[in-house]
Amino acid sequence: MKKRWVLALGSALLSSAVMAAPFGEEADIKYSQDLWSALSSAGLVGADAIMSTPYTGQHPHGAVLDTIDAKVSVGGVNDLVIIKRNYGGEGVSKQAVADNPSKYLQAVTVMYKRKGFDADNQDWFWVKYKPDGSLHVNPKGMQLAGAVAKGAKAGCIACHTAAPGGDMVFNHDRYAKGM
Ligand code: HEC
Repeated sequence: MKKRWVLALGSALLSSAVMAAPFGEEADIKYSQDLWSALSSAGLVGADAIMSTPYTGQHPHGAVLDTIDAKVSVGGVNDLVIIKRNYGGEGVSKQAVADNPSKYLQAVTVMYKRKGFDADNQDWFWVKYKPDGSLHVNPKGMQLAGAVAKGAKAGCIACHTAAPGGDMVFNHDRYAKGM
């Protein structure tokens, strides 16, 4: 009986190793750390980060948000990044966030244009950071970095596919093809 258990467990482990997830793998986590360093050097995350005027957000991003478009270099390649800070918690308001952003910051959601990464989805690399640069996880415990969640009905990609202009960006169409 015991032996069969071990065999079943072994084959389960084997099949999960063969079927690599589209996100949250070691390489994604490493890349998300390099991206965080680049954002940090550019003054776009961390204490005293450059911020824009907070605005009222909508689910699943926070109650109050601020969004910044910039360009940063990761691994010697300079490309587009969109940083959305998600604020929430008791007493949150646009004014409260403007006065004390770090008190209400809950997540930093980022889209980075990573050429050749995921041609099906405009080569966006998706990350949901905690304010300290570590990663948020989904209910299955998978770290939210990479093609989140390619092929799934929910997650960054599934929802952002609905953005106008076919560029997966809701706020504008500057990055849409032909613009
Ligand atoms: C259920 C839908 C939904 C999901 C899931 C979602 N987003 Fe968004 N996201 C939006 C909407 C709507 C906007 C634009 C409105 C706003 O500013 O909140 C947006 C805006 C953004 C922006 C600013 C650029 C833009 O598209 O306007 C970034 C960056 C972003 N999301 C990252 C992420 C990341 C990373 C994830 C996954 C961890 C994610 N989003 C999951 C709906 C979603």
